[in-house]
Amino acid sequence: MRRYHTGNDLARVQSIPELADLARRLLPHFVWEYLAGGAEEEITLTANGRDFERLGLCPRTLRGVHSPQLDTILSGRPSALPLAIAPTGYNAMLRRDADLLLARAATAKGVPFCLSTVSTSAMEQIVEQVPDVNLWLQLYCLRDPKVQEDLLKRAERLQVSTLLLTSDATVLGNREWDRRNFVRPQQLTLRNKLDVLGHPRWMLNTLWPRGMPSLGNLNRYLPREAQNAAGAQNFLGNQMDTALDWQALARLRERWSGLLILKGVLHPADAERALALGLDGIVVTNHGGRQLDGSPSSISVLPTIAAAVKGRMQILLDSGVRRGSDIVKAMALGADGVLVGRATLFGVAVGGQAGAQKALQLLADELRRSLILLGCEGVGELAGQELIRY
Ligand SMILES: Cc1cc2nc3c(=O)[nH]c(=O)nc-3n(C[C@H](O)[C@H](O)[C@H](O)COP(=O)(O)O)c2cc1C
Repeated sequence: MRRYHTGNDLARVQSIPELADLARRLLPHFVWEYLAGGAEEEITLTANGRDFERLGLCPRTLRGVHSPQLDTILSGRPSALPLAIAPTGYNAMLRRDADLLLARAATAKGVPFCLSTVSTSAMEQIVEQVPDVNLWLQLYCLRDPKVQEDLLKRAERLQVSTLLLTSDATVLGNREWDRRNFVRPQQLTLRNKLDVLGHPRWMLNTLWPRGMPSLGNLNRYLPREAQNAAGAQNFLGNQMDTALDWQALARLRERWSGLLILKGVLHPADAERALALGLDGIVVTNHGGRQLDGSPSSISVLPTIAAAVKGRMQILLDSGVRRGSDIVKAMALGADGVLVGRATLFGVAVGGQAGAQKALQLLADELRRSLILLGCEGVGELAGQELIRY
C-alpha cells in the first residue's frame, strides 16, 4: 500500500486510498485485517482493484459540460449519488456506534444506508436516531424461521423500503488472518493484545465505555448471558443457513411486499432467474473478495449480466469501488449504481461521521470531475459509454 504524508488531518485527505492508509495506522492490526482483508490468497480482492484499473475512459472533447447531474433513482427513491452504503457487520469494532455514524453520514449526503443483519446497532435505534434515513436492510438467511420472521416484521414496522438478501455467505469465507489473530474465538493472541495497547486512540473511540460490541439486531434472540461478542459469534455459527436456495428466495419474495434485491450474483443465468422470480434488483458482487477466493471481479462479469437483464431490474455493483471513475466505469458497463463497503468504513474508522461524509464527498467530487472531463452531462448518460480494455 502506498504511504501518504498528510498527517492525521481529515480535511487534507485527498482520496479513499489515503483514508485507507490513515485507518491502517489508527486501527489495531486485528481490526485492520478484518476490515481490509480478503479470503485465502486474496486473488479476488486483488482482481477487484486490478480489473477497474484495466478499464480506460475515452473522453469526448469540447462538450461544454459545467455541472453534470449526479443524482438518480435507487430502489425507487431519489438518491443524490448513484451509490448506497453497503451492509457491513460488526461496524462498531471500527468505532463506537459506527452504524449510526454511517447512517447519519449517508443521510447528510442524501444516499441510502443499508444495515447488515449482523450490525452492532439495532434497526430500531437507527430509525429513532436518524429519522430521515433512507434505510435498506440486508438479510442473512437464518435457520430459525421465527428469528427471520421477527426480523422481517421489525423491518416492516420501521418501513424499511428495500431488503437485500445476501446469498454468497452461507458459510464464512476462509479468512485465515482472523484465525491467526485469535488463539480461540474472542481471545486475541498475546502479540495482538500488545498491539491493541499501542492504539490508545482506537481504545478510547471504540472500547470505551462498553467494551467489545455485540449484535444490536440479533441480541434479543440470544439468552441474556450470551448477549456479548462471543455469544453472538456462537449464535451465528449455528444460525447461518447453508441450505439457502431458490425455493427459499421464492418464499421470501412472497412474504416481503417491499423491494427485494438479491446480493451475491456473478452469473447471468442467476440474474435471469432472480428476474423470473420477480425480484426488483440484484447486486453483482463477490462480497469485497471476502468469500470465494478465485471468483471473478464484479466489474469483469457485469457486461454479460447487464446484457441479460438490463432495463428489466435494477443492477447494482460492488467490490472494489474506490474512485468516482470506478462508478463511471460500472455505470458505463450497465450498473444503475454501486454499493461502497470499505470506502466509507475507512472514513468512519478515521473520523466517525465526518470521516464517512468525507469518503462520500471524495467520491462525489471525483465523479463530478470525471463526468466533466468525459464530456458527459450526467450519470444518466453513462450507460453504453465507450470504455477501453487494457
Ligand atoms: C468489514 C466488512 C463486513 C461486511 N459484512 C457484510 C455483511 O454483514 N453482510 C453483507 O451482505 N455483506 C457484508 N460485507 C460485504 C459488503 O456488503 C460489500 O459487498 C463489499 O464490502 C463491497 O466491496 P468493497 O469493500 O470493496 O466496497 C462486508 C464487507 C466488509 C469489508
